[in-house]
Amino acid sequence: MPEDGPVVARTREELRAALASTGRPRGFVATMGALHEGHVSLLRRARAESATVVASIFVNPRQFDRADDLAAYPRDLGSDLDVCAAAGVDVVFAPAGEEVYPPGSATTVDPGPIGRVLEGASRPGHFVGVATVVTILIDLVAPDRSYFGEKDGQQLVVVRRIARDLALPGAIVGCPTVREPDGLAMSSRNERLAPADREAAAVLRRALLAVRDAHAGGVTDAGRLRTTMLEVLAREPRAHVDYVSVADPETLVEAEGSRAGPLLVSLAVEVGGVRLIDCEALPAG
Ligand code: PAF
Repeated sequence: MPEDGPVVARTREELRAALASTGRPRGFVATMGALHEGHVSLLRRARAESATVVASIFVNPRQFDRADDLAAYPRDLGSDLDVCAAAGVDVVFAPAGEEVYPPGSATTVDPGPIGRVLEGASRPGHFVGVATVVTILIDLVAPDRSYFGEKDGQQLVVVRRIARDLALPGAIVGCPTVREPDGLAMSSRNERLAPADREAAAVLRRALLAVRDAHAGGVTDAGRLRTTMLEVLAREPRAHVDYVSVADPETLVEAEGSRAGPLLVSLAVEVGGVRLIDCEALPAG
């Protein structure tokens, strides 16, 4: 990294110039800013495995289905750049909207059915927005490896699929979820939780651990695994369940009957008006 912090590229042209003389392998972490320990773990992994680390900071309007959610999204480029500098990032791509979506931009990337279930069902268009921006960013950065958090389990499935289907450059690397001491997955949304809701939010992890334990203890019926999660969640009155899912980890089709694994268990729960998601991969039995 340059001594005075990362090079900040605001345009596609500036990004090309900043990357022109950098070494390989090139690691890439796409973010929407509001960087927390979860992002830092991705940046550190990229730093450990790359000659050049590139991070993008872009609040992608196309993946928000609600204008108020987009407006409420925290933005603080100055502190995000400090985080990137501390993590040893070489180049930060922090474009304005028209650098990502030039005027008249109409092309979208639709990942198909895996983008229309779970988060995609609750937030219509979300994964078309994610798939489109990730395709553009990976195309511009041309990384050898792109790092994504396993916490957004469905997003990782979608990104792996578009990378494969569209032959995007480089490998997609999934990285373990970073958690608060009580198990709550790190997320920029956590800071919107009022103290009592923040405490209640730990129920997401408890529900996932209950499923993990049940599965490890021999419970393979998908319906029973879903019920296990719902029972834990029902004990927390502040938690309002959007969905619980026990699905095939590649197709995201809901599992029925007895399934030994592998399975992707995920849930979306609203606590104090803040929508939280988390997931757990269950190994083959
Ligand atoms: O996970 C995120 O922060 C976003 O969905 C991503 C991958 C940066 C695309 O905007």
